[in-house]
Amino acid sequence: MNADSHTSQPVPLRLFAYGPLAGTITVPGDKSISHRSLMFGALAVGETIIDGLLEGEDVLATAAALRACGADITRTATGRWHVHGVGVGGLLQPRTALDMGNSGTSTRLLMGLFATHPITVTLTGDASLSRRPMARVTEPLTQMGATFTTAPGGCLPLTMVGAALPLPIRYVLPVASAQVKSAVLLAGLNTPGRTTVVEKIATRDHSERMLAGFGAQLHIEDTPAGREITITGEAELRPQQLTVPGDPSSAAFPLVAALIVPGSSVTVTNVGINPTRDGLLRVLAMMGADITQTNIRSVGGETVADVTINAGVLTGIEVPPDVAPSMIDEFPILFVAAAFAHGRTTLRGLEELRVKESDRLATMAAGLIACGARVTELPDGLIIDGSGGEPLAGGATVAAKLDHRIAMSFAILGLNCRDAVTVDDARPIATSFPDFLPLMAKLGASKGQ
Ligand code: S3P
Repeated sequence: MNADSHTSQPVPLRLFAYGPLAGTITVPGDKSISHRSLMFGALAVGETIIDGLLEGEDVLATAAALRACGADITRTATGRWHVHGVGVGGLLQPRTALDMGNSGTSTRLLMGLFATHPITVTLTGDASLSRRPMARVTEPLTQMGATFTTAPGGCLPLTMVGAALPLPIRYVLPVASAQVKSAVLLAGLNTPGRTTVVEKIATRDHSERMLAGFGAQLHIEDTPAGREITITGEAELRPQQLTVPGDPSSAAFPLVAALIVPGSSVTVTNVGINPTRDGLLRVLAMMGADITQTNIRSVGGETVADVTINAGVLTGIEVPPDVAPSMIDEFPILFVAAAFAHGRTTLRGLEELRVKESDRLATMAAGLIACGARVTELPDGLIIDGSGGEPLAGGATVAAKLDHRIAMSFAILGLNCRDAVTVDDARPIATSFPDFLPLMAKLGASKGQ
């Protein structure tokens, strides 16, 4: 969050729908791709032009950090950004600490970039980010030659001294994490030789696709050990003209809203459906949702579609754990959908959710139970016995715990409750989806006092 969000008071939120939701909306640009567009543009020599950049606080934190390290970044219209890069190896030491706000992606990917530049950088963050584990990134980056001084538990604030003589490594990811994978690949950009990351389960592959587009030499191979991604270092990146597709993680909220408010029909256009990101749509279809994808096309090297969903009552299932990486940010809103399904939904293998912007298993279980849902919290997941389409009681104030996706999930849950649901603080929504409220209003769900 920005300085204002730190100092201002919590902003409670209640959303109401007085009838079915209807209409067509376009959600803002993909957060993961927006961060990477700025970062790779900052490392290219020449001007990268980006259209459709997400102008949420997390991405703005990335832009500010890159500017502080010498990149020239300007905005000329809504979503249109120009980046004059400094070249791989050309980042400068910032004069002051860099504030990462709430953004884990900015923090972990930039740590990778900085780790193989001979600069000293201090990173700070808000209360949520300062609780999140960074050892998963400092560990491989230490092997590459960077050194770190961290707060207890390996957390922010931390100071990194980047390696003057970086070493290439072969790193098998201990957790399925696109952020860790990307941090090592980005460190590999300014490292002599070949840096390899091995992932057992495929995570979002935007770094690989985009680095190849910027001209980096990448080799990807499926092996018995997993997917091996090798980057050849001391790369030269060529500037690009990019269009950022719509964020499937933001589209998830209006789509599930349409599913649970009886009689609704909503279309979200230009939604990224990269197979490493489309797990929610696949799981909702397995649960019987009436979803169609039309106008499938390519935008900025990614497949996008217009996604239409009609209200309906889902059937509970056992969600296959291997789908998790392709919908890792969508579980809070899937839990909401499951709370209105017929029968039991069992979700396991989700321990990673405990180290997101909040502990998403505990935060969601507490809020769902407070609103009358039947939920059992497991160490690695939730069991949710749905209402069979009946409205939940609601009537509670739920804690969003500085977590944008928790805040939006409970705002949506409130659309099908007998009594209003109050989200204690909606400010974090601005980190990823600043247009959430106006777009929901366009569909017929608006704020109450
Ligand atoms: C992201 C990767 C995921 C996701 C995050 C964005 C990325 O994190 O939760 O919102 O852009 O690489 P993990 O890599 O920690 O799973």
